Amino acid sequence: MVPFLRILGIETSCDETAAAVVERDAEGHSTVLSDVVLSQLDEHSAYGGVVPEIAARAHVEALDELIEEALTRANVSLDEVDAIAATSGPGLIGGLLVGLMTGKAIARAAGKPLYAVNHLEGHALTARLTDGLSFPYLMLLVSGGHTQLILVRGVGQYERWGTTIDDALGEAFDKTAKLLGLPYPGGPAVERMAQNGNADRFDFPRPLVGEARLDFSFSGLKTAVRQAAQDIAPLSDQDVADICASFQKAISRTLKDRIGRGLQRFKTEFPATSEKPALVVAGGVAANLELRGTLQALCDKNGFRFVAPPLRLCTDNAVMIAWAGLERMATGAAPDALDVQPRSRWPLDSNAETLIGFGKRGAKA
Ligand code: KG4
Ligand code: ZN
Repeated sequence: MVPFLRILGIETSCDETAAAVVERDAEGHSTVLSDVVLSQLDEHSAYGGVVPEIAARAHVEALDELIEEALTRANVSLDEVDAIAATSGPGLIGGLLVGLMTGKAIARAAGKPLYAVNHLEGHALTARLTDGLSFPYLMLLVSGGHTQLILVRGVGQYERWGTTIDDALGEAFDKTAKLLGLPYPGGPAVERMAQNGNADRFDFPRPLVGEARLDFSFSGLKTAVRQAAQDIAPLSDQDVADICASFQKAISRTLKDRIGRGLQRFKTEFPATSEKPALVVAGGVAANLELRGTLQALCDKNGFRFVAPPLRLCTDNAVMIAWAGLERMATGAAPDALDVQPRSRWPLDSNAETLIGFGKRGAKA
């Protein structure tokens, strides 16, 4: 039987500095004792995107205090945690170095095991913490750095079924917002504008729709938006709203096609799961209500359960890192050696090939 476990998690892979304490009892019930996140949004917004050097420095400044705060809020001392889990990739290397080195130092000083966690594994396993999902299930990760459809077979067992061949979905929102003069981050701004727009005014492309492979492509959509904006410039507020609504509609249609195929494949590969099959969504773009609605309807139609963990746990946080560490501990996996290195690129599925154009912006998740 797995004993009671308590773990401190650290996350610094992009522009959120985060620390959390999570525990899991012998039956597998878990409790989030603390969850502290400091967003660097203000530091980066003037630049219209995350600046790696600024991010790394901000992590250095904030992390020690954040860890103290996570322990204080959890009402535990370092002695009372069983292990340290720190994100060691993928992500911006400066930030990863800060978090992983801090994790190593604490592990060494306190004599605790260290788990070097893949950030994507954190996203992939969160739904087991929040919704008690059992394996296997499908996960759609849609953030500023990734757009991946992943089969989660078990702890440490991931198969990438689809990925973007160019821009990540969040990136497409951010770039579209920028060219329309909307503020960063672009996703929430585009969604807000789209509410008053006519989604049928522009017929934007839906790349790869109809193809059997499960990959995504969004750069053509962005180019079409730029072209449309140039054609009707100068843009009124209504024009911007119409472009945003049409852009979201094209994305919804694309996801419906791509993910719909993914659900069919899942049913073919796992015809007899004991529970209703599930699709989990994670990443910042999961905040988008139109997208959620599309995925919910798709799941309803295909007999799938749609699981969207609370937004705070869909975006970057340290709870998911602590939880991934706990899941690994619970399987009896050995901790990492203290000479483990951070990895800016670290695919969850080591058999999946890198697709052309993927990861232009680094491996932000
Ligand atoms: O997961 P996340 O918080 O950070 C990383 O990428 O690591 O995702 C941020 C991304 C940004 O590209 C942002 O524009 C997008 O999520 N986003 C949205 C919405 N809220 C955030 N995209 C569409 N609609 C939204 N409501
Ligand atoms: Zn992430």
